[in-house]
Amino acid sequence: MLSVKELVESNSVRSVPSNYISLKSPEDSMLYETENIPTIDFSQLTSSNPFDRSKAIQQLGYACRDWGFFMLINHGVSETLREKMLRATQSFFDLSEEEKKEYAGEKVLDPIRYGTSFNVMVDKALFWRDFLKCHVHPHLNVPSKPTGFSEIVDEYIRKSREVVGELLTGICGSLGLEENYIHEKLNVELGAQMLIANFYPPCPKPELTMGLPAHTDHGLLTLLLQNQFCGLQIQHKGKWIPANPLPNSFLVNTGDHLEILTNGKYKSVLHRAVVNTKGTRISIATAHGAPLDTIVGPAPEFIDCDNPEAYRAIKYGDYIQFQQSHELHRRSCLDRIR
Ligand code: SIN
Ligand code: FE2
Repeated sequence: MLSVKELVESNSVRSVPSNYISLKSPEDSMLYETENIPTIDFSQLTSSNPFDRSKAIQQLGYACRDWGFFMLINHGVSETLREKMLRATQSFFDLSEEEKKEYAGEKVLDPIRYGTSFNVMVDKALFWRDFLKCHVHPHLNVPSKPTGFSEIVDEYIRKSREVVGELLTGICGSLGLEENYIHEKLNVELGAQMLIANFYPPCPKPELTMGLPAHTDHGLLTLLLQNQFCGLQIQHKGKWIPANPLPNSFLVNTGDHLEILTNGKYKSVLHRAVVNTKGTRISIATAHGAPLDTIVGPAPEFIDCDNPEAYRAIKYGDYIQFQQSHELHRRSCLDRIR
């Protein structure tokens, strides 16, 4: 199976091959741009001034409850490191196909997996995307090529874990829980962290295909870094909204396991990636969750007679296995395991 990069480079495609054409319903292209995704100022969230901090916690609660997405500014991860991470990702995808295929993996939970589309075993139409997925915590699994790649990834994922750790503390505050509640209950220190690098080459007819179809993310939180090309759209009040982040910001979204843990109070939100004609879009997501063998169910704090348990408890690793082995049905995987 050709990667999309190979396809684009090999025969300078002027059209989208028919196996990449996804049928779209008319409402798929409805965009609604008047509302902006909330912005959270990380420096306020970590401020020693209690007033600033509590205001930021309130804003974080609103963003998680009403949007499931926010832009994070003043997060302390240097632009130098973010640029290095993007360049290193480009260099990985610039390796020859032969070199990259050493990392193809066989099973969806393999520690390193290079591939194309979402899951070529189950995709009915292919997606305009190549990817590299690595399990980077608690053990660092990263390709040893290109030179320097693993060191940059190591530095980047440590920083992103620090940021997410603080966000989870703030989220606990916004839910009226002890600050360390999620860290302790889900053993986040030893939790799974995955790096998903997405590579979307330019596409001659972006309206005919998708980079990634609508889905929600597994885990508690996802932190997303991208290059200059936007393409993420999120669903808000039934409409698709383009998520064009502020310069130097991260996009953050709540995942399925925060939805399960809070018994639906903080929902994980559908999002998708579209492609463009102008250039290669690179996005780098880090997904942060519990250890793979942890069983996650709704916490008792969110269950009462008005709010009965709405999700069944499931091992985090089993959930990922299920999500990654089935077609993305343009809806949350949560709907299918309930
Ligand atoms: C993702 O949903 O995993 C990434 C979407 C993107 O490329 O922005
Ligand atoms: Fe996602």
